[in-house]
Amino acid sequence: MIFEYFTHTMKKEKFTQSLMQWHLQTNNRIMPWKGEKDPYKIWLSEIILQQTRVEQGWSYYEKFIQQYPTIQQLAKAKDEQVFKLWEGLGYYNRCKNLLFTARLITNKYKGKFPNQYDTIISLKGIGPYTAAAIASFAYNLPYAVVDGNVFRVLSRFFGIDTAIDSAKGKNEFSILANDVLDKKNSGLYNQAIMDFGATVCKPMLPTCSHCPLKKNCIAFKTGKVNHLPVKEKVLQKKNRWLYYFLFEHNNSILVNKRSAKDIWENLFEFYFLETDAQQKWNNHYINDWMKQQLGIKKANIIHISEIFSQQLTHQNIKGQFIKIKLSIIPSALKHYQWMDKRSIKKLAFPKFINQYLEQSYLQSNLF
Ligand code: ADE
Repeated sequence: MIFEYFTHTMKKEKFTQSLMQWHLQTNNRIMPWKGEKDPYKIWLSEIILQQTRVEQGWSYYEKFIQQYPTIQQLAKAKDEQVFKLWEGLGYYNRCKNLLFTARLITNKYKGKFPNQYDTIISLKGIGPYTAAAIASFAYNLPYAVVDGNVFRVLSRFFGIDTAIDSAKGKNEFSILANDVLDKKNSGLYNQAIMDFGATVCKPMLPTCSHCPLKKNCIAFKTGKVNHLPVKEKVLQKKNRWLYYFLFEHNNSILVNKRSAKDIWENLFEFYFLETDAQQKWNNHYINDWMKQQLGIKKANIIHISEIFSQQLTHQNIKGQFIKIKLSIIPSALKHYQWMDKRSIKKLAFPKFINQYLEQSYLQSNLF
């Protein structure tokens, strides 16, 4: 127990240390609001970034700062002029809240942005994420940002499969996020984890092979990078692309029995990657992906199937099957079940996979 506590604490310390080192030595992401200490500008950048991606938000931020360099100037502006500047970002309620809060700060706080977390979060339009960003970037207060980037980085590094959209998951990740926060450098740390999630530990095709955290990353070590973080409400997605990899080694095939509580619970599957958008797989792309994600240096790509599809009530599933022969099993795939290929027929698979298997059996070209 004591040992477990010790190793867990060490792991957290290692995470923070490696992330900060990456930020200070390697991170070269440039953004106009980076290093900014003015809470008004930080707030503005965060509100814009809730609406759009960094590339598009950049010019909006610059236009706003140019036109309204201070919160007092924004407070004095006419609603219509600000709406015009906001045009294209959508969701005008955020813009209205921006104006409301600028005027409140100008009148109630004499134009001085509050410097306590509790006051910041009490402002209209500012939730826990934005409050933590302002408190840490402007005042170095020890509050961790928790957003999609943070969920992804933490779930992968620590190998946590609690659903991020469940109450339990939100609580668990929020505690962990504050645990691993570098409390003396919270502004730098928060920027580090945001940038790391956006440029290295990306949702699709993260750059694991160059990742400075890979030595201690549970997802990387166990081949789960593409399966974390876990979401409970997958059903809300309309289009799902599933790419199955039929890894073969010495006449055995990698299979996995699904444990997720969904329509395919307890059925078998192959190693897979799920994406929201179609991927254009070719030999080069597959080799690159296998090297990055699974540390596979040499493999024989036997076949890339046509696109299969299946229409479910709320989902449109499409995908492909890719057959690969491995000369050695990489450590990331060792803990999976490897089954003699002649026994595969006895397993129960979801219909989507069966479509492919049946076609391959008919053509006698499965294995
Ligand atoms: N997304 C939201 N806020 C951000 C920030 N300050 N840096 C990078 N990405 C962000």
